[in-house]
Formats: sequence, structure tokens, C-alpha cells
Amino acid sequence: MHKRLNQKAKEIDGYLEQYLQKQYPSEIFEAMRYSIFAGGKRLRPILLLCACEMFGGDTQEAIPFACAIEMIHTYSLIHDDLPAMDNDDYRRGKLTSHKKFGEALAILAGDGLLHHAMEVMTNACVKNCSEKTVKAMQAVAHGAGVYGMLSGQVVDVLSEGKEIDEKTMYFIHKNKTAAMLQGALKAGALLAGATEKQVEKMEQAGEKLGVAFQIADDVLDITSSLEELGKPVHSDEKNEKNTYVTIYGMEKSKQMIETLSQEAICIFKSFPKGAFLAELTQYLIDRKS
Ligand code: IPE
Ligand code: IPE
Ligand code: MG
Ligand code: MG
Ligand code: MG
Repeated sequence: MHKRLNQKAKEIDGYLEQYLQKQYPSEIFEAMRYSIFAGGKRLRPILLLCACEMFGGDTQEAIPFACAIEMIHTYSLIHDDLPAMDNDDYRRGKLTSHKKFGEALAILAGDGLLHHAMEVMTNACVKNCSEKTVKAMQAVAHGAGVYGMLSGQVVDVLSEGKEIDEKTMYFIHKNKTAAMLQGALKAGALLAGATEKQVEKMEQAGEKLGVAFQIADDVLDITSSLEELGKPVHSDEKNEKNTYVTIYGMEKSKQMIETLSQEAICIFKSFPKGAFLAELTQYLIDRKS
């Protein structure tokens, strides 16, 4: 699985390179490229392309959407690391954007990646104007937006140092992390012309996988190391974050990862070509970085 993912990530990087060619003013392109090409698992574009492939779609048509979702994800990481948010110094094994380029350029690099993602997707919709492309863009925008990832980030930050209930904790993880994974799976399925029922099932699997993925991130924040993760550990404790581990404890959190991921795997396996996404889910929750 590791090798296959690396291969897919490399392919995606080739396309990202084409979408992020340097122009004047070079400083912004340097900052955007620094964070994008620092590494990263490329999970969201891989999910999008695999969902498209699974339903028999043309993955070539899905490339702009896959690249766009990685740009949006990278923007969210740059802003997540800012002093006003999680205030972290390392990301993807390198200094964070604001540490390297200063806060102003880091904010702009995040904005740049978000807007460029929208432009790349809009261009794809103009070039191939169909219900499929427009709905795929809608799914990505929704996953990232104020009814998705952004709302989770808001509640995450506003809950620092406060006691929250289980429902609020679930809201944070469902939105800050699962929403983008759901957007990726949904967009891929839509581009392949999957039925409404199939798209709905992919969204359900994305929610389970996404929440499990974020609980695993909470666990790694305690059990891993900067060297292994490429980002600082104990960031959550430093920021007095509510996480699954602070609310449920380590053992229960691990059980919840297991239950949710098995539910996601079950949904993926219900599709004739769902084996790869099922395997990927297992790999992701067992990950060390
Ligand atoms: C990090 O996402 C932020 C979370 C939602 C946990 P990833 O773990 O996918 O980070 P990269 O893209 O591989 O750097
Ligand atoms: C943030 O969660 C997820 C995003 C939407 C960026 P975290 O704050 O836990 O992510 P890391 O640990 O910094 O990657
Ligand atoms: Mg955060
Ligand atoms: Mg963070
Ligand atoms: Mg984290």
C-alpha cells in the first residue's frame, strides 16, 4: 500500500507542478509551492481519484478537482499553524510557512492556494461544462466551506480551554477533517456519474473514515514524535484543545478509531470495486505519520 500511495502521490505532484507555475510576484508562488511540495500524503486527491476510478469514471477529467482539493487542504494547514491558531513551527517536516516567510506572506499563500483551487476547478467546469463537473466543484467547495471544514476549525479554536460535550466534539472532527474527505469522495463519485444512492454511501463512509482519521491524529499528537510526524507533538495540550483523547481517554479513543474505520471499510466493501478504498482506510488508521 505504501508504495502504491507514493506512486499516486508522485503523479499528483506532477499535475500540481503544472498548476503552480511561477510568475510575478515570485514570492507568493515560492510560498505556495514551499508548503505544497513539502510533502504530505496527498490523501484527499487520492480519495477523489480512487472514488472516480471505482465508479468507472475518467480520472483524467478528475485531475483538476484532485489538485484543487490538495491546494485547499494545504491552505488550511498553513492557516491552522499560524500564531493566532495552533501556533506550530513545523509542518510536513519543514518550518511552517509563517516561520519561513513571515505571517503576512503565510496568510497570503493560504489565500492564494484557496483562490487558485477555485480557479482551477472553475476552468475545468468551463472547459467541460456538464452537470458532473459543476456538482463535483460544489462538493469540494461545500467540504471546505463554512458548512464544512471551516466550521470545524471555528469550533475547535473557540473551544480551547473550555469543557465541551460529546456532540460538540463530534461536530469538530466531522467538520474540520471529515468534511474534506467526504468532499473528495463525493466529487470523485459524481465525476464518474455514480447514482445518488452511491454518492450518499460514499459520504457516509467519508464521515466515518474522516472522524477516525482525526482521532488517530489526536492519538499521534501524544504518542508520536516530531521526526516521525513532521509536525510538533503535544500541540493539542499546548493549546488546551479538546480532543477525543482528553474526553474519552486513550483506550476508548483507539476503540472508536477501530469501530468507525470498520464501518467505513464495510461501506467501501459493499461496492464491487471498493477493495482499494477499504485497504486504504485500514492503512490510514494504522499510520505512524
Ligand atoms: C493533517 O492532515 C490535518 C488533519 C486533518 C489531521 P494530513 O494528515 O492528511 O496531512 P498531510 O497532508 O499528510 O500533511
Ligand atoms: C486541523 O486539525 C485540521 C485542519 C482542518 C487543518 P489539527 O490542528 O489537529 O491538525 P494538525 O495536527 O495541526 O495537522
Ligand atoms: Mg488545529
Ligand atoms: Mg494544528
Ligand atoms: Mg492534530
